[in-house]
Formats: sequence, structure tokens, C-alpha cells
Amino acid sequence: MKHSTLLLISILISLAVASCSPEKSPPMPASHAAASSMKNAANTDYRTQMPYGSAPRNPDLGLPSNFSKSSGVTFSRVSVPGPYVALTFDDGPHASNTPRLLDILRARNVKATFYVIGKNVDLYPNIVRRTVAEGHELGNHTYTHPKLSALGQDRVFSEIRKCDDAIMRAAGVRPRTLRPPYGALTQAQRVSIHSTFGYPTIMWAVDPLDWKRPGVSVVTSRIVSATSNGSIILVHDLHASSVDAMPATIDALLRKGYKFVTVSQLLAMGGSASASINPQPSALAQSQVGE
Ligand code: NI
Repeated sequence: MKHSTLLLISILISLAVASCSPEKSPPMPASHAAASSMKNAANTDYRTQMPYGSAPRNPDLGLPSNFSKSSGVTFSRVSVPGPYVALTFDDGPHASNTPRLLDILRARNVKATFYVIGKNVDLYPNIVRRTVAEGHELGNHTYTHPKLSALGQDRVFSEIRKCDDAIMRAAGVRPRTLRPPYGALTQAQRVSIHSTFGYPTIMWAVDPLDWKRPGVSVVTSRIVSATSNGSIILVHDLHASSVDAMPATIDALLRKGYKFVTVSQLLAMGGSASASINPQPSALAQSQVGE
């Protein structure tokens, strides 16, 4: 008798505990009714997922981007009054790497400049539209990515015009600067392109040689150690490994106090007299430029 009483008590206790369990599902009909009544309600609880965890944010800057045509023909960096830098991405858009990069930039409120190839713009106009819609700037990187310094003026102008038109068709905006493929453009060509199209030639001050795929941490450390106020930073969003390096690179630069702006914003900040002009790429860039 004593044992069976204890057994009964323990059964009653376990039933009581089970009925209090928070994991017990509510009755099915009630849950269905709730789901159907919620169908058209706004989902105010939704938050954009941070793809790489919590990241530091670039401040909202709202800087002007209307630089003067007289500010210069060629730039690899700009003399600016603060820790402003411009991240530039060449050779896209790429079907998967560019959208992934856009996610990384959006999570950090970073605005960059994309030197797109016209042929790729025609392949992926939606990605170009998204790039513009998220506040980035587009730059001209020619239509088929030839070595312009080896071409006559008609071919050079046609390459530039076709890229310009592809960008206009895709996104409804015109690029305002040119980056020559391989950095290859003679001084005479730079001057004639500037007077014909209004494009300054944009080179770079920081080149991690990411297209050689030296490894994600090498790309990051090269960029972080070489960047200073007014730097124009060259990266290629064509390569997955270059995009892989961006979260750590951007976060390190943000933690050092750098603020990211577009190339046009950087040029507008420099003014005419203070723009630092570098007519030729550095010896390193000249000999090792890949893409
Ligand atoms: Ni290129």
C-alpha cells in the first residue's frame, strides 16, 4: 500500500510539471486562426540580417559630390581636411560577388565607387540598378576592358561612350570619372578624355594586388597599413577572395577612424588647388597592374 501511494503521488507531480512546460504547443485551431488573421498585417518586427555579425557603421555624411572640372585631370589621392577615403571596386558587376559585396557595404553604411565594365553592365543591369539605389557611385571602366594606351582615339572614345551608354540604360545615371583598364592611359589621352567627356582619370594610392589572390588576411593588412587621409583604394569585386577580405578590412579602417566617401565626394572635398595629382601610376603599379 505504501509503495503504490508513493507511485500515485509521483505520477500526479509529473503530470502537473508536464502541464506547466513552456514547450507544450497551444491547441492547433487557435494557432491556425492567429496565423490567418496575421496574413496581411505589417511585419514590423523584421530586421535586416547582419550577414557578418555586428559591424561598426560608417557615419551618415551627406557630403556634396559636385566637383569642379578644373580640379584636375588625374587623381590617385586627394588632399582632404579629415580622415576621408574612397573604396573603389573594378571589373564588375559579377553575378554573385557584387551582390555579396553590396550586402557587406550596406551592413556598414559604407558608400563606394564601382568602376564597371560596360559588357558586364549589359549582362547584369539589375545589379547595377541595386548598386545605384543603395547610394554607391558608378565609374566608367570602358566597354570591353582593352589597354587604351595601345588604341587610337576613335577606339578609345568608342570604348568610353559604349560603357557610358550601358550604365545610362541600366541605371539612368551617367558616370563622372574614368578608371583606365590596367591604369594604362597616356597623358595626352587623359587630357583629351577630360576635355571631351569631362572625366578625370582616377588611379589609386592603395593597391593590395588582390587580383593575384595573396590571401584574405594579406589583402586586409596591405590595405589597412597603406591607407591614409585622402587615399583612393583599389580592389576588384570580380574575385570572391577580394570580397571575402572586405569585412575585416572595412571594420579595421572604421575602427581607425576612417570615413568612407565616393570618389566624387572625395574630389569635391579636395577643391581645385589642394588636389594632389599623380599623372603616372607608381613603379610598382606600372609593372604589376593586372586588372
Ligand atoms: Ni580592370
